[in-house]
Amino acid sequence: MGVSRRSFLLRLGAVGGYGAAYSAMLSMGLLASPARAQAPSFAPGAGRGKRVVVLGAGIAGLTAAYELERAGFDVTVLEARDRVGGRNWTLRNGSRIEMVGEATQTVSFSDGVYMNAGPARIPSHHENLLGYCNRLGVPLEVEINSSRSAFFWDADSNGGKPIQLRQGVNDTRGHISELLAKALNRGALDQDLTAEEKQRLLPFLRVYGDLDGEMRFKGTERSGFVSVPGAADTYAVDRPPLPLKDLLANDQLPATLFEDFLYMQATMFQPVGGMDRIAAGFQRAIRSPLILNAEVLQIRDLAAGVAVAWRDRASGARQVIQADYAVVTIPLNILSKIDSNFAAPLKRAIASVPYDFSNKIGFEAPRFWERQQIYGGISFVGGETTLVWYPSNDLHSARGMLLACYGSGPAAKGFAQRPLEEQVAVARGVVARLHPGHEGELEKPAVVNWSKIPFNLGPWPAFGGRGGQEGHIEDPAYKLLNQPHGRVYFSGAHLSQMPGWQEGAVLSAWRAVGLIADRVGQTVAVEPGRRPAAA
Ligand code: ALA
Repeated sequence: MGVSRRSFLLRLGAVGGYGAAYSAMLSMGLLASPARAQAPSFAPGAGRGKRVVVLGAGIAGLTAAYELERAGFDVTVLEARDRVGGRNWTLRNGSRIEMVGEATQTVSFSDGVYMNAGPARIPSHHENLLGYCNRLGVPLEVEINSSRSAFFWDADSNGGKPIQLRQGVNDTRGHISELLAKALNRGALDQDLTAEEKQRLLPFLRVYGDLDGEMRFKGTERSGFVSVPGAADTYAVDRPPLPLKDLLANDQLPATLFEDFLYMQATMFQPVGGMDRIAAGFQRAIRSPLILNAEVLQIRDLAAGVAVAWRDRASGARQVIQADYAVVTIPLNILSKIDSNFAAPLKRAIASVPYDFSNKIGFEAPRFWERQQIYGGISFVGGETTLVWYPSNDLHSARGMLLACYGSGPAAKGFAQRPLEEQVAVARGVVARLHPGHEGELEKPAVVNWSKIPFNLGPWPAFGGRGGQEGHIEDPAYKLLNQPHGRVYFSGAHLSQMPGWQEGAVLSAWRAVGLIADRVGQTVAVEPGRRPAAA
C-alpha cells in the first residue's frame, strides 16, 4: 500500500481535523483509551489571530502556553506567584517558604544544597515530560530511588529495630520460598499445579529464595555480610537470617516492595540542580507574556470570548484581559473561591473536590549516611514522617539535603497541624533513632506543608475523598471538568489519571490544547512522543 500508519494519520488529520484523526487512531488501536492525550501539532498558522489566556504557570500551564505559542496563537499566561513552576519548586539558599498561618521561613542552605519541595523524581515511562526535558535542554541525572543499604522500621513501635532493606527483601523471600517448597512437597498444592509445574517450580524456588539442598532457608549472602571478604584468608561471614516473626512484626515490611511499584521502578530521573530546571526551561523557551504576581480575581465565559480580571500582587493594580479561549490550570480548591459565571453544576463540581495533605521537611547535613553506604534511596519509617530520603546528587560532596519527612494522607493532615518547631523536632527524633549520634548534625530545617502553601492549599486532589498521586479516577466531577465549558478548558495534573505526577500535567495540557485545536480546525494529530514529518 505504501502508506505508513503514521503518514495515513497525518493526511487524515489535515483533511478531517483533529477529531477525525483521533477517532481513526482509536479504531486502529493506537490509543490505549479515549482519554489518551496526544501531542498536538497544528497546521502552520492555525492559531493566528486567536487569543488564549492561560491561568497558572505550573507544568500544565507552561506546556499549554508552549504548544499554543508554537501554533501561532496569541498567548498570555497569568501566574499568581513570583515564579513559574507551581508545585515544581526547588528550595535553595534565600528561598522563602510562605505558609498560611505560619511565620515565613527563609532557607539558608549552603551553595549546591537544594530541596525539591514538590516533585522530586521522574519515572522512565513518563516519556512526554522527559521529552520536554530533552527539547528544552534540561540535563537529567539518575534519581536513586532505592538503596538496599537503607532501612525499614516502624518508628512508632517500641523496641523494634531498623532492618536493612537488603536483609528484609532477601530474608523475607527466603522464608516464603522455604514455606512454599514445604507446601509443594507435602502435596498441599497438588490441586493447583501439574506434576511438571511442580518439578519446575521447586528448582526455581531454590534459586529465588537461596535455599539449601534440603530446601531450607539458612540465610543468604544477598542479605549482607557480618564481616566482609578481604585479602588472603579473610573470609566473608554472612548475616544470620532474621526470624520470619521479626520480619512480620515490622509494620513497614511492605516497603520491601517499594521499588517494584510501577511508578517507583528504576530508572528514575531528576534534573541536574533541581526540579525547577524544567520550569526554567519552559520559561526560557516561551516568548509570550508570562505575567507573574498576577492573581486571578474573576473569570467570565462569554459568547464572544473570555474576560479574566486579575490583580498585580505587587502594585495592587487591577486589569482585565480578553481572549478567545481560556486554559484554566488553577487547582480546583483555589478555583472554587474565584468569582466566575460558570454554570451551577460546574461550580458545584469544582467545589466538591477535597484536597489531600502532604509534608516535606529537609535538613542540611554532612553526608553521614554515605559513610553507612547509603547513596540515594529511602528509609521507610512509617508514622507521621513516613520516610527519610537521601540525596542522589553530588555524591561524596561535603554536605547534602536529607529529607527527613515526606508523608501524605491522614497522618500528614495531623502532622501539619503541629507547630513547625514540633514538626522539626519529630523529624529530627526519627533520624536520631535511625542514625544514632547524627541528629546534632541536622541543620537549617525547611518545612513545607502543602495544605498551607498559598495558591495550592494541598498537594493533589482527593476525588471522592480518596487521596492519590495516581489512580483510576472516574468521579462525575472529574469527568465534567474534563469537558470544554463554553470557551473555557480546564487542565492540570488534577484532570489526569496521575494527579501527583508532572506527566499528568503534560498530558492534560495536551488534551486541552488538542480540544482547542479541534475547535479552530486545520490540525494534524501525531502519535504520542513523535513529531510529524514535513506536513
Ligand atoms: N508522585 C510523587 C512522588 O513521587 C508524589 O512521591
